[in-house]
Amino acid sequence: MAVLQMHYIPDPVLRERARKVRDLADPALRKLADDMIESMYHYNGVGLAANQIGSLKRICVIQLPEDEEPTVLLNLEITRKEGEREVTEGCLSLPGWQGRILRAEKVWARGVGLDGKPIRYKGATELLAQALEHECDHLDGVLYTDHLRAPDDLYEVEQGAEEEGEGAVEAAAG
Ligand code: NI
Repeated sequence: MAVLQMHYIPDPVLRERARKVRDLADPALRKLADDMIESMYHYNGVGLAANQIGSLKRICVIQLPEDEEPTVLLNLEITRKEGEREVTEGCLSLPGWQGRILRAEKVWARGVGLDGKPIRYKGATELLAQALEHECDHLDGVLYTDHLRAPDDLYEVEQGAEEEGEGAVEAAAG
């Protein structure tokens, strides 16, 4: 496994739509997924989307603090959202910053695992819902800063502060 180079705002690759993975048997996918997991750990995020490491395959990885294993999601799509809540969010492609934005309370999503089996989320809440929206946004070329309602809702945080203690969960970075 290898740590891949992070792409930072305003890299244009972050504004592109990732393309659906059609050949699920492509052996390069597993290598990419393994490298993305390694990179997610290295950069200390709860998720990572392919755009962030310069690939435009529709693939992301998510591992919440309570998860024992990472989840690899191919062709992730949000199919339904319900409710609204304010969250604090960060992004590995914009280190040192956090924002207050609105996200859905509940999220329905679907994707495919590396084994080709469908993965479905029905009414996901809390950090999982936030991570699904954040990563799906990345794959659509959208950044959390697009959801800011006022400039003051984006603020600088101490470097490293988001990596420890409650900040890690409160300000999900992916
Ligand atoms: Ni992000």
